[in-house]
Amino acid sequence: MRGFFVSIEGIEGAGKSTVLKRLADALRQDGYQVVETFEPGDTEAGKRIRQILLDPQLKGLYPLTELFLYFADRAEHVKKVIEPALQSGKVVICDRFMDSTFAYQGFGRGLDLETLYRLNEIATGGLKPDLTVLLDLDVKTGLGRNRNTGKADRFEQESLEFHQRVREGFLELSKDEPSRFVVVDASEPPEKVFKEVYNRLLERING
Ligand code: TMP
Repeated sequence: MRGFFVSIEGIEGAGKSTVLKRLADALRQDGYQVVETFEPGDTEAGKRIRQILLDPQLKGLYPLTELFLYFADRAEHVKKVIEPALQSGKVVICDRFMDSTFAYQGFGRGLDLETLYRLNEIATGGLKPDLTVLLDLDVKTGLGRNRNTGKADRFEQESLEFHQRVREGFLELSKDEPSRFVVVDASEPPEKVFKEVYNRLLERING
């Protein structure tokens, strides 16, 4: 039996990794086999690609170079991690997937969306998440949360306007594909956010 593929999306500081961890724990308790993963960087090659992508010293990386690095990471990740897990019937929960490319490189950097869709199709071999959870949060709140953790990578150094375009991009993507997306207000208390995501996910897995 084929598994189930969930992606978790949102701006920096939306709480994706916290929700992912709790979801994985809850699903394991329910008896599912779960693989927790993320992009970019969850393969041997991906780790190195991630270092380039997030290096704050690397100023002015050409947007197309950035784009192809994300797709290189994704091609490797789909082939080596996601597809094998799905083929063995597991639930795969991925912190960021293709919608991050559409939101950041498309809406954020201004690259043509139709081109991104076509290239993404090639990188993934047509694989799409069965469900995408969008944790929606005000940009100032999200960036403020991450600042508290003291990290500032290449994206966190981007302007508020850039992150605003990314947030709006995610919301637009969710409107284009309402049956794939579940949009959750990430400003709610973590317990409430988790419960809502968990319930919606169970409905889909069982449906
Ligand atoms: P994160 O691991 O902290 O989420 O960092 C990954 C960064 O990469 C984040 O700022 C979003 C960005 N990103 C893109 O711009 N495009 C993509 O396709 C993906 C997967 C991530």
